[in-house]
Amino acid sequence: MPQTSPSHHPPHPDITITPPTPLTLPLLKRLNTLLLPIPYPQTFYSEILPSPLLTRLTRLAFYNPPQTTTTTSTTSSQPICVGAIRCRLEPHGRLYVMTLCTLSPYRGLGVAGRLLEAVVGRGVREVYAHVWEMNVEGIGWYTRRGFEVEDVVGGYYRRLRPDGARVVRRRVGVGEWIGREGVVVEGEGEDEEVVEDGVGRERGEEEEEEEESGPKRKGGGNAGELVGQ
Ligand SMILES: CC(C)(COP(=O)(O)OP(=O)(O)OC[C@H]1O[C@@H](n2cnc3c(N)ncnc32)[C@H](O)[C@@H]1OP(=O)(O)O)[C@@H](O)C(=O)NCCC(=O)NCCS
Repeated sequence: MPQTSPSHHPPHPDITITPPTPLTLPLLKRLNTLLLPIPYPQTFYSEILPSPLLTRLTRLAFYNPPQTTTTTSTTSSQPICVGAIRCRLEPHGRLYVMTLCTLSPYRGLGVAGRLLEAVVGRGVREVYAHVWEMNVEGIGWYTRRGFEVEDVVGGYYRRLRPDGARVVRRRVGVGEWIGREGVVVEGEGEDEEVVEDGVGRERGEEEEEEEESGPKRKGGGNAGELVGQ
């Protein structure tokens, strides 16, 4: 059974995965704004902390710079938020990855893999996501983790050209969530926070505009703005 991240890599010692807090939640928005091609409405962020389930389904990754020691002093820099995931839970144990991204200088360290692992817990039977059809890197990342790639769904993104998305989908075996801390699915449809119909809803829920002004387009990311904790 394929794993959510390659098992041959030990976790990077300077990366920690944390739940969102009032202090760090703005960093999720900043990362998404920098790295993802469409904006998300303010409710996408504001509904997380009041919901224990959505809080379980959101994780941030921090890079903790090693201490630097000179003959006279030891300096430790603040952790930098380098990646984040935000999911929702749908009936029948389906976990939908709404956003997942890693700041480019910190890619290839296992950040996204650990973020995904951190949210997949007992009872999750399937993980899926929409990925823009031109996002070869993103589709490849999921493929290498055993996700199946479905045909292009045309017209999925209103603001992107081409406008299609591919669904990437993978069944989750029981053995994959044993001992995991991720979300626990107690019963189907019993939790009122479980979203009833996520399939087909446009990614980014663009009907609602982002409230803040600021950069609409994405670059490599400004780590200086992503210091937190
Ligand atoms: C796709 C994306 C999320 C991947 O993020 P990432 O943090 O670089 O991903 P990972 O580090 O977990 O995996 C990348 C590689 O690092 C390797 N790696 C290196 N060191 C590792 C370690 N210590 N632990 C685990 N993996 C490690 C993995 O093997 C993996 O290689 P593979 O994909 O060939 O198997 C990132 O490129 C991104 O943010 N892209 C833009 C947004 C996007 O496309 N999001 C996905 C669609 S929503």
